[in-house]
Amino acid sequence: MKSIILLTALLSVVLNSMAENDFSIANNNAINQCIASDSNNSSDSVDPSSGSMPCATLVYSLPGAQYIHKLVTNEGETVTSVDFGNIEGLSLKDDRISIGNKYKYVSGVAPTEEGEYTYIVNIINKEGKTSQTKVRLIVDSFLQSPTPMMVWLTWNWFERYITQDKLVAIAEGMQRIGLIDAGFSTIVLDDTWAKPTSDKSALTYNPNKFPYGISGLKSALTRVNKKMKVGLYSDAGLMTCEGYQPGSFGYEAAHIALFDSWGVDMLKYDYCNSEASTEISYTRMGDVVAQLNKIRKSKGKNPFVFNICEWGNTQPWIWGAKAGGSSWRATGDAREDWIGNHSRPGVIAGVDEIRRVWMYAGVNRFNDLDMMCIGLHGLGGPSNNTMNHLSNGDKITGLTDAQARTQMSLWCMMASPLSLTCDFRENPKTEANKYKKIPDPLITSSDIETLTNKEILAINQDALGQQAEYMEMLSTGTTDYSNIGYDVYVKDLTGERYAVSVTNRSTNSINVPALKLIDLYMKANMKYTCHEVWSKSDEEIENTLNVGTLNSCETKVYILTPVHN
Ligand code: GLA
Repeated sequence: MKSIILLTALLSVVLNSMAENDFSIANNNAINQCIASDSNNSSDSVDPSSGSMPCATLVYSLPGAQYIHKLVTNEGETVTSVDFGNIEGLSLKDDRISIGNKYKYVSGVAPTEEGEYTYIVNIINKEGKTSQTKVRLIVDSFLQSPTPMMVWLTWNWFERYITQDKLVAIAEGMQRIGLIDAGFSTIVLDDTWAKPTSDKSALTYNPNKFPYGISGLKSALTRVNKKMKVGLYSDAGLMTCEGYQPGSFGYEAAHIALFDSWGVDMLKYDYCNSEASTEISYTRMGDVVAQLNKIRKSKGKNPFVFNICEWGNTQPWIWGAKAGGSSWRATGDAREDWIGNHSRPGVIAGVDEIRRVWMYAGVNRFNDLDMMCIGLHGLGGPSNNTMNHLSNGDKITGLTDAQARTQMSLWCMMASPLSLTCDFRENPKTEANKYKKIPDPLITSSDIETLTNKEILAINQDALGQQAEYMEMLSTGTTDYSNIGYDVYVKDLTGERYAVSVTNRSTNSINVPALKLIDLYMKANMKYTCHEVWSKSDEEIENTLNVGTLNSCETKVYILTPVHN
């Protein structure tokens, strides 16, 4: 109890001092000047307001890790050089490609010493005017989420009908299937875990649902597998989206201290009934989480993970990292649908929402595509509480096996957090859809194969942390939310490897012309081993990748590795 009071007091001091600086929160450049404590002086002469780049400029790395940072510029601008100051292991590489996405990039090995580093990107525009942009590189062994988080979330199956017993049964099912060992080790209690009240100072767990509290739940989960962690949901407003429990705005320090005292390791922070702008609301919480993480690091505990959830409305990929988050929902709630639309994204529309913002993702900063619908089989709760399921003729049919594999493929290619929400209990029950009949089995062998495919998970968890680039010039599905054409994505992987995916957006089978490897960033006249992760086929290729026929809604995902003789 004493330590909660102490932590609350400490965090309140931080918040008070923050409130005085609120003027700077809406201004990224001011934030750069105020917060940056540069460990080298290459930026002394830089006016950080002189340039702005449409890509990540606050970036992260584990010490001594392989590193890549793509320097995308505004139309008509070119990067001329980068001043690396005292950073030794990184260098500027030339233009990447002559078709489609064009940019220079920084790569190499990040410093081995922890600390904040800066490098300065020098840019020239068409008129010959020069500008500079400062990049802040945080090298830390204690990053919240160096690779995308992998969780199971209560919302799209249970809605508000959650209890300790049900969640322990879910964890037992995950253990049986091998999902915990595959990396899905956090159970997140979404909305309605707390006692119903509107009094923020009275926030606590609902004893009818969690008779032994959240710490009791965590102990029960760790008896299933000692890796298990617990995440909680709150909201940056007066009340949560369900209007069932109070939000945390103005109570950030007290609530985080409470969650920490219960052994909670992650926060999903929603934005209903909000009281301030997204940047102000999330920065307040992010600063409290940063303070908590300093304490956790000094105690040798694991990092607390902060997941922002404002549905992509205010471009969180631009400010989410500065606000202290390591991932941010970049879309509306994912629906159990194939295409969908902006407000009700299915598999394809969700990806369409983020496919042009790949340059903002990286280690510890990920665009979150929301819960996957694999395993719901048309029975999901709130995810199905929707009209206009356009591509399924207004019927909720659930995803076909091919659509489920495509969802898994694309969530992994995009380096999205992976959130499951389906019922893994031995005796599943329709919870939020009580009157519907449940198939037997609910979770099929195909679902399990899709969710536990080690190769696709390794693409998601690749340590370079890159979101796949959308190769618009090579794709024919260029119109968002359309059900025709195919999409090509390329993702840099560690080593000298690449993952290439090709998705058929339509329900008819299609033929994809051969893709030239030089258009996919690979070398001409060089042999590559080419492994397709779903069929597990292998071949050696040179100059072209022959995709051939894609069946209805199918995605093929290739891992290409150069052959050095
Ligand atoms: C919002 C979020 C969902 C879920 C609900 C809970 O809609 O986007 O993911 O957390 O709130 O009320």
